[in-house]
Amino acid sequence: MNDTNQRKIVIFDTTLRDGEQSPGASMNLAEKMEVAHALVELGVDVIEAGFPIASPGDFQSVCEIARAVRGAVICGLARCRNADIDRAWEAVKDAQRPRIHVFLATSAIHREHKLKMDKDEIVRRAVDGVKRAAGYCSDIEFSPEDAARTETDFLCEVVQAAIDAGATTVNIPDTVGYATPMQMKSVIEMLRRRVPNICRAVISVHCHNDLGLAVANSLAAVQAGAGQVECTINGIGERAGNCSLEEIVMALRTRGDYYHANTKINSRRLVPTSRMVAGITGIQVQRNKAVVGQNAFAHEAGIHQDGMLKERTTYEIMRPEDVGFAMTDLVLGKHSGRAALADRAKALGYELTGEQLDVVFADFKVLADKKKDVYDGDIASLIEQQIHAVAEQWTLQSYRVTSGTGLIPEISLTLRHGDKEHNTKMASGDGPIDAVLLAIEEITGINVDCKDFNVHSVTVGQDAQGEVRVQVEYGGRLYRGRGISTDSIEASAKAFLNAINRIAAVSRPSGGIGRRSGFKIP
Ligand code: KIV
Ligand code: ZN
Repeated sequence: MNDTNQRKIVIFDTTLRDGEQSPGASMNLAEKMEVAHALVELGVDVIEAGFPIASPGDFQSVCEIARAVRGAVICGLARCRNADIDRAWEAVKDAQRPRIHVFLATSAIHREHKLKMDKDEIVRRAVDGVKRAAGYCSDIEFSPEDAARTETDFLCEVVQAAIDAGATTVNIPDTVGYATPMQMKSVIEMLRRRVPNICRAVISVHCHNDLGLAVANSLAAVQAGAGQVECTINGIGERAGNCSLEEIVMALRTRGDYYHANTKINSRRLVPTSRMVAGITGIQVQRNKAVVGQNAFAHEAGIHQDGMLKERTTYEIMRPEDVGFAMTDLVLGKHSGRAALADRAKALGYELTGEQLDVVFADFKVLADKKKDVYDGDIASLIEQQIHAVAEQWTLQSYRVTSGTGLIPEISLTLRHGDKEHNTKMASGDGPIDAVLLAIEEITGINVDCKDFNVHSVTVGQDAQGEVRVQVEYGGRLYRGRGISTDSIEASAKAFLNAINRIAAVSRPSGGIGRRSGFKIP
């Protein structure tokens, strides 16, 4: 949209903080670094890297991101407490452009039940917190948590006091996803009308998705004059998640005629970044998810296909290539060469080193032998598996399982560890997949508690690859595992081994300390 009067909206990404608070989405340091670099490539303005006081791991990852990641503001979250603010500053101080984000709840519900503070005390603490943070750096964001349920007069009072104390961005969170678009619009308009010093700060909005309105509410806020939107990749976050970055960015871009606003996001990086975050967190993107879902540009109905062939814009408001989908779902097969694969990988948004390409090509050849058509989804899966490979102490050599209705499965499984092969034979388990896990536990001596097991097909057709994702608990921590194969039992074995290898990478197990709970495929 060529509109010279377009406002530039600041994209504040909180995938590494609010997103990481999604159940099961925790990331290790290397994964957080990878996401942070991808966010810069995507073009986000601000990266909320974590909540440094929350844990030593959070502190370390914010420090490392602040030191190593250039090209975006790096922000650390803090409550309005001295220790939090000092810790947040300690973590972000080496950033090219550091920001401290302080927050304090303001709604009556939070004041009375959570904080047990009256309004005066809230204002005093907010002002003290902002002032302390402003003593460290000039870029300070203040959030009145649960702003959407805060009395409007009091919200104006707190926002004005925070700006006077030095806040340069005031963020209006809809912490519990309670607001509606009209309400959000009127709150922002009211702040702009009633807070005398509001022009000294950027107004931001932070919407949760409990009623599925996070993107709509954020757009309404932009329409009312908000200059920053807080969002996450794939909309991950607490409970139902946060405003989805892909959706808000493409809504502003596609409807620039209406919002007269845009962002500096490189939209062609949306799909690769979405895939990367899904791969790392294990939180799959639903097929029909707007913008980045596998079906977002699939036209099934005959009338639609006919229209598309005549003129694309009849049924498409965005071009798939503009959000990073490859132009065509070109099919590769066993006669395709390394160059064709490299080409496809590039079109899918992956820059592979020669070494990575060698491994992916070898995997591709194995797959193409089993499967006639190799689709983009297959290739992306192979690449993601290679990129996020953990040092594999244990690998699957072979398995054989027999099972049937009313039978106890019999399994023979061989794993490789270094140059040694380890084999077990047993009759146990609730089914073939349970038997595989029991045999893996028996050989590795690592007993886990399976918390989640998920299988889906990577592409279409009878010979489609199955992708299995598992989440297991060991020693009080959750570990993810992922495996793909045209054989779903083999994919399950690979997923369990992937999780076991993650455990082995961080601990030298003494064996048997994990608790085994009966495992059934949901
Ligand atoms: O949802 C919320 O209120 C938050 C704040 C810390 C901004 O995440
Ligand atoms: Zn939040």
